[in-house]
Amino acid sequence: MDCTLQIFLDDHWIDCAQIELNGALCQWNHLIEYAIDHPDAPVSLVEPVDLEIRATQSLPAFAYDLVPQGAGRRFLLGELELPDGPDADFPLICAGAFNPIGRIRVAEAVKYFDEHVERHADARGLPGMTIDEVVMRGPDFAERMFLHGMLGTGTTGVQGAAPKYLLTRDRAGLLHGDAVLPDANAVQHLIAKLPRGSSAADEKVLRNEAAYMRVAAELDVRTHPDLPTLHGDVLLIPRFDRIARDGKVIRLHQESVASILGLAGFDLRPSLFEVVAGIRKVVSDPAAETLEFIKRDVLNLAMRNTDNHARNTAVQLIEGRVQLTPLFDFAPMYLDPELIPRALRWYRPDTKAELTDWGDVLAALPIPDHERQMLAEALSRFAVQIERLPEIMAAQGVDHDIIEFLTQPIDTQVRQLQALKPLEA
Ligand SMILES: Nc1ncnc2c1ncn2[C@@H]1O[C@H](COP(=O)(O)OP(=O)(O)OP(=O)(O)O)[C@@H](O)[C@H]1O
Ligand SMILES: [Mg+2]
Repeated sequence: MDCTLQIFLDDHWIDCAQIELNGALCQWNHLIEYAIDHPDAPVSLVEPVDLEIRATQSLPAFAYDLVPQGAGRRFLLGELELPDGPDADFPLICAGAFNPIGRIRVAEAVKYFDEHVERHADARGLPGMTIDEVVMRGPDFAERMFLHGMLGTGTTGVQGAAPKYLLTRDRAGLLHGDAVLPDANAVQHLIAKLPRGSSAADEKVLRNEAAYMRVAAELDVRTHPDLPTLHGDVLLIPRFDRIARDGKVIRLHQESVASILGLAGFDLRPSLFEVVAGIRKVVSDPAAETLEFIKRDVLNLAMRNTDNHARNTAVQLIEGRVQLTPLFDFAPMYLDPELIPRALRWYRPDTKAELTDWGDVLAALPIPDHERQMLAEALSRFAVQIERLPEIMAAQGVDHDIIEFLTQPIDTQVRQLQALKPLEA
């Protein structure tokens, strides 16, 4: 079984690489013509464009960013009549990765999608929907989403556990399934995210995700200039991997930290020291991105966003620079009914003991001393902002019981960050 990857460059999809899977052996390589013409546009930031044939025991790590997850995965497994498990990942890519986040897609999946549209003549030329129609999710909506990209039970192009739809706004302000609206008509790209489950707690987590993102923006953590907005139980999230400009759409390279670290599969748990090392290897300004990452982790701890797994951090290539993407999936995940403990932690590289104090983490980071000094100074300044978190959260509409619950974790962060001050001397 094999597949051809395509990359979106200069307004075109171009064949760039192929993956071949034979039983337990996987081989992949760039296409010769592509490697010659586009040496600077890799499919993964840790895979140089060259003529080598790579052999691996599993799919290449970057391919896991394309594997449908959650509701989209369940839907496609049904369509393909496949049992779930790691063996399903490759067939799922070959059918489902026709329109993923980022700028890589799978040619066979595009064909699969085109055939789906072909079979449903009504799919063409349907009018767009208003946000109210999305919120109501009536029978018309379900039908439309099915026709507009097999999205009836969740989308195949975006990962994560919560049900989502990839939507695109047209010039008239109406919303369409992303895969069917031509680029020339697109003005804004959105993810419509629904609660993970049907309990009141699921709804509360998603409602507060909107407020949490506003808090992060107030604290100068990198966020998309257009923040998510809540409509009924639907969180409408503007996408940062697409830029619609002058009737064209620019698709940006986006890659999870899991891919950067070469982690094949899901649910692998690197130490946060490995995560930082991976980020530093690919970004344009390692010192700035290390600070950005640690600030996000301070917020994760202070605001109990426990679900900090390796696919909830990603990097992007934008205007020639590689950096962490704007923040995403930042919510009071401690409330999730599935009881999600903090996924990734700071395990000391030598002893593997968990470090829970910023002084110890900074001391153990393998970075030059002058950078350690700068980090300590910046983080001790951040303490002033973290101290104001309760009032900022209240102003941004975080639920009162959450603010109350966070009193102690916030105090702990403030105390630890303030204690970094003496390093300045
Ligand atoms: N604004 C955005 N622009 C582009 N891509 C995004 C954006 N927000 C999220 N993503 C991508 O979509 C994926 C799923 O989104 P998100 O993490 O919010 O969903 P989730 O279902 O809550 O995930 P999880 O399973 O981690 O709880 C992310 O891993 C990321 O790749
Ligand atoms: Mg996520």
